[in-house]
This record gives sequence, C-alpha cells and structure tokens, in this order.
Amino acid sequence: MSVLSQRMQTSAAMVEGLIKELLVPTEPAPEEKPLWEAMEYSTMAGGKRIRPFLVMEVCRTLGGRQEEALIYAAALEMIHTYSLIHDDLPCMDNDDLRRGKPTCHKVYGEATALLAGDGLLTRAFELVANAPGILPLRKCYAVAILAEAAGAPGMIGGQQMDLASEGKEITYETMVAIHEKKTCALLIAACRLGALAAGQRGGEAEEAMITYGMGIGRAFQLIDDLLDVTSTKEVLGKDIGSDQKNKKSTYLTFMPLETAEGLAKAITDKAKEAVEPYDRDGVLTALADYLTERKN
Ligand code: IPE
Ligand code: IPE
Ligand code: MG
Ligand code: MG
Ligand code: MG
Repeated sequence: MSVLSQRMQTSAAMVEGLIKELLVPTEPAPEEKPLWEAMEYSTMAGGKRIRPFLVMEVCRTLGGRQEEALIYAAALEMIHTYSLIHDDLPCMDNDDLRRGKPTCHKVYGEATALLAGDGLLTRAFELVANAPGILPLRKCYAVAILAEAAGAPGMIGGQQMDLASEGKEITYETMVAIHEKKTCALLIAACRLGALAAGQRGGEAEEAMITYGMGIGRAFQLIDDLLDVTSTKEVLGKDIGSDQKNKKSTYLTFMPLETAEGLAKAITDKAKEAVEPYDRDGVLTALADYLTERKN
C-alpha cells in the first residue's frame, strides 16, 4: 500500500472516531432520535475524507500538532457532510444516492435531512469552540476560517450561484467562479486550518497552501463534473447524469472531454508547484495526483 493510501486510511479512522463520539447525545427524547440517527447515517456512510486528510497533512507538512489538526479536520468533515445532505435535497440537486447509499432525505424525510444538516453544521462549531488544549485565539481563527468558507462568502454563495445558473447560458468565468466558491472554499479552508494548527497564519506558508487548495479544488470539481458523465453509479456511489438532469453548465459545456482532462492535469501541476518547497515527503503532491486520477 502506498504511503498516501496508508495515511489516508489512518486519518479517516481518526476523524471518524472523533465524529462518532460527537453524535451520541446525552439523554435524547425519543422524538429526537431520528435527527441523531440521520446525522450519523450521513457522516458514517463512507466518503473519501479528503478535506480532513488535507487538514492533517498540511499540519504535518508544516510541523504542527496532529491533536489540534484532528479537531479542525472533524469539524470540516461535518460541515462538508452537511453540505452534501442539503445539496441532495429535492429543492437542490434532487439526488437519491450518496456515498453508495440512499440520500439522507430518502431515508429520514426532507425535514429531518434539513435538520440533520443544520445539526452537523452547528455541532462542528461547538466542537472547535469547546476543544480543550487549544489557545482561545487560535480557536477564534479556526471558527472564522470555517464560517467564512462554509457561509455566504464561500460554499453557500457558490451553491446559490450554481442553482441560479441552472438552465442558463453562463460564461466560462462564471462557471469557474461557481467552482471556486462551492468547492474550492472548503478545500482552501482545509489547507488554512492545517497551517493554523502548525502556527502558520498570514505568511508565505499559508499563502502557498491556499494556492494549492484553490488548484486542487478547481481540478476536483472539474473531475467531479466529468465523472458525473463518464462513471457508473456503482463506482461513483452517487447518481450519475445529475448535472445534465439539472441543466448545469460544466467543463463539458465549454470543451471536449480530452481537453478537460488535460486541463485538470495542468491545474493540478500548478497546485503541486506551489507547495513544492514545503512538501518534503511528497504527500501533498501525491494527493493532488490521486485527486485528478480518481475514479470516484
Ligand atoms: C463531493 O465531494 C462534493 C463536491 C464538492 C464535488 P467529495 O467527492 O469529496 O464527496 P465524499 O466526501 O467523498 O462523499
Ligand atoms: C456540490 O457540487 C458542491 C457542494 C457544495 C456540496 P455537486 O452538486 O456537483 O456535488 P455532487 O456531485 O452532488 O457530489
Ligand atoms: Mg450541487
Ligand atoms: Mg449535487
Ligand atoms: Mg457533481
């Protein structure tokens, strides 16, 4: 097994362990139970755990404490999972399959899925704010990074643009702007949180990690759009053809498949360049390549 997949497995197990602990409520009323079950159902359904892995690896690369990175990693994965639950709702992409299982609203109903998303989002901030052993100011910075990336200036704004662009002719620049917000924002947050856990904020190292996060994020959404057309639901673990069904503009609206694949590689190469001076063990480089070559 490669160093990359070994580390990804270890980090996923740690993150899942911590999230699981947080999804056990103290004395829930019977009426509350479906909410907690739905939160656990979606977070524990699998998933590549890319964002938490990034937090952990950027922290390791810059010489920080893994314990601190783990808190940020789990919080970010909870926020990401919330975004997927809401993204799949009938009022958004209306998809039935996620992480190889029926989507949250298919199992628990729309209202509980909505609340499960809200519950994960807020629990993530609770986790960071209550974390022992992290300097209070650092926690404030972490909360700000998460909120900005997940909120209206970031992912949520991108989701709004994405929905507003359905069925419309948009420019290439608008499509890239949507990707930067709906997808890159959380990947950049992962890099920033990893840097923060290593005491790096506002300097060259953080800047390099932000450039990396933006690059792998753009390539990530590009590949996601291609897989929506080229993969199968068995391999992908989610419905295919979702973008066409919802009349979304993707890279394939603007260029043929081979050109888009070449572009993903070029964007990835630029991202790798940005972290070259820091990436001594090559894991960030290997991760960028894996994300471009992935099949799900
Ligand atoms: C899916 O993200 C949403 C996008 C931004 C394209 P992932 O492909 O990381 O989903 P999981 O976490 O592995 O299920
Ligand atoms: C979703 O983009 C980005 C999010 C913020 C969840 P997509 O709608 O393409 O993601 P998938 O394909 O459903 O995972
Ligand atoms: Mg979507
Ligand atoms: Mg979707
Ligand atoms: Mg997609």
